[in-house]
Amino acid sequence: MRFLSGRQNHQVAIVGLGYIGSCIAAVLAERGHDVVGVDTNTALITELGDGYCRFVEPGLAELLADAVGSGRLTVTTDYSAVRSADVVLVTVGTPVREDGSLADEQLRGACTELAEHVREGQLYVVKSTVPPGTTRELVLPLLEASGLVGGVDFGLAFTPERLAEGTALGELRTLPIVAGGLGTDSTSAAAEFWRTALGVEVVVQESLEAAEIIKLADNWWIDLNIALGNELAKFCTLFGVDVLDVITAANMVPKGTGNVNILLPSIGVGGSCLTKDPWMVWRSARERGLDILTAPAGRRVNADMPDYTAGIILEELIRLGKEPAMAKVTVIGLAFKNNTGDLRHTPTQPAIAVLEKVCAEVTLYDPRVDADEADELFGITPSTRLEDAVKTATASRSSRCTTSSATSTSPGCP
Ligand SMILES: NC(=O)c1ccc[n+]([C@@H]2O[C@H](COP(=O)([O-])OP(=O)(O)OC[C@H]3O[C@@H](n4cnc5c(N)ncnc54)[C@H](O)[C@@H]3O)[C@@H](O)[C@H]2O)c1
Repeated sequence: MRFLSGRQNHQVAIVGLGYIGSCIAAVLAERGHDVVGVDTNTALITELGDGYCRFVEPGLAELLADAVGSGRLTVTTDYSAVRSADVVLVTVGTPVREDGSLADEQLRGACTELAEHVREGQLYVVKSTVPPGTTRELVLPLLEASGLVGGVDFGLAFTPERLAEGTALGELRTLPIVAGGLGTDSTSAAAEFWRTALGVEVVVQESLEAAEIIKLADNWWIDLNIALGNELAKFCTLFGVDVLDVITAANMVPKGTGNVNILLPSIGVGGSCLTKDPWMVWRSARERGLDILTAPAGRRVNADMPDYTAGIILEELIRLGKEPAMAKVTVIGLAFKNNTGDLRHTPTQPAIAVLEKVCAEVTLYDPRVDADEADELFGITPSTRLEDAVKTATASRSSRCTTSSATSTSPGCP
């Protein structure tokens, strides 16, 4: 094969050792591949080199420590380390700007550095989520500044990352991987790499753009479906109906090859993906003259949920005859996702900000979040014991979706 050495054990470089890059590095090293991780963040590289993992993901810290300890994973800020790799994975951050366009500094910076070290026969694989066309129009020319030609001298493919936090390692070992390349040699090399490297099924696509769109389609669907759950919850409230009963029953109806699958309503959507990827869809469409309506609609609904949730808590206090200005409210569950301590873009933050303005006191409890990080984000140190947090509370709000909590102030979710 033009771009893979044909070995079962690959030399892999991973550029960007954040949450995604670290998970992939750990699992590839676990499967016996020699992995080198490159990141511009010197503090992160020092930590990882010392066997410390800052990312909260079940099993990741142990796996990384083993990988570094066994010498299967080395980490560095020095880009020249990628030269000996057969396969180079790009996993840098791809945030969006206010206008929905890709903030491409990390990707541009990584590819500019990589161009200094591209070697004939290497396979470059972008895993960062990007607007369609980015691999071809941004990554390719930056790598070709090396003087080598993509698809001829080096391979280039896009294979999105679709794992979810909290279950990332298991998903990396099992989830099928989508692969689309710059021509058939790149596509088949990328497919062969993932098949042999992780032993997973690969879903081959005809183009880079198809693979890029698949990642966005997944997150567009999830965000929009949560928005449907959220509006359904508001709708059910009008009729005194429990939305969870409605969703359970509605989801029993077969549709196509599966069932209807309305997701659960909640206090909102957080994290680094669902809050930005629909905007990538909207913006890329708009740049090409198409006005996509559903992606921004889903975003707006979900972004309004923290305010809405704070509003129903305040309304409920009043209904119970409690003066909000005299009330002490406890928020239980701070992370944006169940069973994680991840506070990135957590929707609890704007909800708590509203409650803090109006109520006498807000106390917090979440055993999974880092107390210093929470303190910095909310300006409140979370209690270490649930009993302390709820002591003397007028109302407590679990940010998980629940209807049965004795202390829940809302009749249902959200
Ligand atoms: N977090 C998720 O659950 C998830 C899931 C699927 C896909 N993704 C996508 O994966 C990508 C990475 O996400 P993440 O959560 O790991 O982001 P992250 O911010 O945790 O990590 C990005 C890393 O890239 C490094 N970096 C930035 N510029 C660099 C450069 N020029 N050279 C080398 N390293 C550089 C940063 O220092 C950081 O460590 C994003 O495109 C994201 O949308 C994330």
